[in-house]
Amino acid sequence: MDVNISPIVIPDLLEAFKSVEGGDLSVRLDENFADCDVELCRAFNSMLDSIRERERAQKEIARGQIVQSEKMVAIGRLASGIAHELNNPLTGILTYSAILLDEMKNTKYEQDIATIINEAIRCRDIVRGLLDFSREANPELRPLNLNHLITDTVSILERTYGLRNVVIEKYFTDKIPLAGMDVNQMKSVINNLLINAVDAMPHGGIIKIRTGFNEKTGKIFMEIEDNGTGIKKENIGLIFDPFFTVKEPGKGTGLGLFVTYNIVERHGGTIKVESEEGAGTAFIVELPVS
Ligand SMILES: Nc1ncnc2c1ncn2[C@@H]1O[C@H](COP(=O)(O)OP(=O)(O)OP(=O)(O)O)[C@@H](O)[C@H]1O
Ligand SMILES: [Mg+2]
Repeated sequence: MDVNISPIVIPDLLEAFKSVEGGDLSVRLDENFADCDVELCRAFNSMLDSIRERERAQKEIARGQIVQSEKMVAIGRLASGIAHELNNPLTGILTYSAILLDEMKNTKYEQDIATIINEAIRCRDIVRGLLDFSREANPELRPLNLNHLITDTVSILERTYGLRNVVIEKYFTDKIPLAGMDVNQMKSVINNLLINAVDAMPHGGIIKIRTGFNEKTGKIFMEIEDNGTGIKKENIGLIFDPFFTVKEPGKGTGLGLFVTYNIVERHGGTIKVESEEGAGTAFIVELPVS
């Protein structure tokens, strides 16, 4: 292809290339300069505009990820610290209220004490959730097939939780390489994501589970997509925080995604969410193969 380039613009262009090579993306060619090839100058300038914008967007994403991960570490420490402190007094409350219940059987206080016990049991379950999470700090990595883990978890969920008019469709890549995973922790990740998806579809719906392998990044991925309620825009940044829940009291503790996020991170992976209110939600987990 013959390109007619004004000879005058070439030295400028070479100069500009050198500046870009040196990391200066602010350099621009003068489009108004009488002897320059206007089309070429514009194309060059617009190329630099796009590169600059892409670089800015990438930096912003990276900064967001660092802030999120620092926040999770700090919150994680705080949450498990509080759980440790609450564990003993809660055991005391439960022991003594059980004794009291025995003594107050068939009196007008029996029902009140039973309520105290039930509420204390709820607190203990939350504390246990946090303690299990902090004990499980180091995953025991073994080479495992993600497809098998998902299939196992789905069949347990079907039997224990019930899918209530929710259909699960699997789109698995057969050629998925083994990845280092802690079997219990990773099943808990899959379970948390599936339960959230089922809960987001009170009148039923479809959950699509996809797996795959990206040769370029050397990572396997799992995507769990539902066509449920979706997540409000203002809540997207909060869903991984401990105790964030929009479920009615007594239904959710808001620990599921917090634990999930931390497990994935300990496996050297990442978790992302895409959601549209009223349309559905997709969680994408990526894990390194080696
Ligand atoms: N697939 C989803 N669709 C819609 N909203 C979701 C989905 N997954 C998570 N959420 C929102 O994120 C919140 C936090 O989820 P998370 O799993 O951490 O807690 P939870 O499900 O409320 O309680 P639990 O501790 O029992 O898991 C949920 O209350 C819900 O509002
Ligand atoms: Mg949950």
